Amino acid sequence: MKSALQIWHPFTNRALDPAPVMVERAEGVYLHTKDGRKIIDAISSWWVNLHGHANPRIANAIAEQAKKLEHLILAGFSHEAAEELMTRLRKWVPEPLTHLFFSDDGSTAVEVALKMAVQYFRNLGQPEKCEIVALAHGYHGDTAGAMSVSDASPFTEPFDSMRYAVHRVHSAYCYRCPVGMKRESCRIDCVQQLEELLLERAGRVATVIVEPLLQGAGGMIVHPVEFLQRLREICTKYDVLLIADEVLTGFGRTGKMFACGLADVTPDLMCLSKGLTGGFLAMGATLCTDRVEDAFRSENRTHTFYHGHSYTGNALACAAANASLQIFEDEPVFDRISAIAKINAERLAHLRGMHQVGDARQIGTIGAIELVAEDPGYLSAMRPKLYGFFLDHGVLLRPLGNVVYVLPPLVIEPDDLHRAYDVIGEAIEALL
Ligand SMILES: Cc1ncc(COP(=O)(O)O)c(C=O)c1O
Repeated sequence: MKSALQIWHPFTNRALDPAPVMVERAEGVYLHTKDGRKIIDAISSWWVNLHGHANPRIANAIAEQAKKLEHLILAGFSHEAAEELMTRLRKWVPEPLTHLFFSDDGSTAVEVALKMAVQYFRNLGQPEKCEIVALAHGYHGDTAGAMSVSDASPFTEPFDSMRYAVHRVHSAYCYRCPVGMKRESCRIDCVQQLEELLLERAGRVATVIVEPLLQGAGGMIVHPVEFLQRLREICTKYDVLLIADEVLTGFGRTGKMFACGLADVTPDLMCLSKGLTGGFLAMGATLCTDRVEDAFRSENRTHTFYHGHSYTGNALACAAANASLQIFEDEPVFDRISAIAKINAERLAHLRGMHQVGDARQIGTIGAIELVAEDPGYLSAMRPKLYGFFLDHGVLLRPLGNVVYVLPPLVIEPDDLHRAYDVIGEAIEALL
């Protein structure tokens, strides 16, 4: 008899981690398990879900689209769902971003941005301007290029030989300030390192990639808006393209549609995914300015951007994205966001007083608690204990090592969000 085919689950070690929980169906913020439990999804199923699981408006839009056109090669062809998405996104993305290149997920949206930035200067006759700068504590995905721009971590260490070299500069991690300052009195001194690097590597650096205002997987690190503003100024001064990786921060998570909007910053390239389809289907997108796209429109065919994935611009994913954006148009999504942000602020203020809590930070709908640990980092021994405790108490929270965070679907009701915070408080009391 053939042996069974088994799922190899992501970020999971079968020798150490509990068996996966079987979920039969989900609705709103609840996951209904096969063994009859109801679990609050307080992390939006890896940060993707916006308007609730099985949202009927999005589900119906996908079903209708599937009856008409499920997928189409996007080279040489286009379709209504994709064109509609351009019109809908136009309302939200900064005006100077005029072109959108589809891909499959967050990692590929990042790969596209990096490749565009490098080829841009090559097409302009500056092939030596090809170096890349990324931030300490950054995370941009798990494909080889995205891993290269991500900071070294247990995720990347086995693959060091596959990661290409990038310049790494300070992040504005105020709780552990890389230049020993205090936020109250600092002048965003950490950004100076970037300017020094660009001076030293004059004419060599093509792009700086940043997760705007919030570094997610690196520990839910919230940056002052001035940090992003200074990055923008420096990139402009040295003619370096700024890539904003809004894969996590996009679609209202930070309080504005895009985190860049909180800082009034327009990047040259912007990566989207996760919430783009409301969390229903995988899709990535990289937006760029006219100036970038112009360099690829050329009589010289070698200037073409030779990149594309089979499912580029998938019509079902576009239909889901259109329905999600329609919800932004006609439901009080930003009121929901404000309500979540208010509860986050109240509950974090209380948690901040606990001696086990080193730092509690927030940006919009995202609240994070950095616990005091002897072994800080993703592999902290407290992580599996906390995860198990939360799940046993009916809440899905996946701490990043010693950093616990809530990142709920935007439709979460106050009671459920309070429940998540109650369980966090109980776990800290019980385990630490
Ligand atoms: C900021 C950021 N960029 C890129 C990615 C990669 O996205 P994906 O997992 O869809 O490839 C992630 C995933 O968490 C992310 O947080």
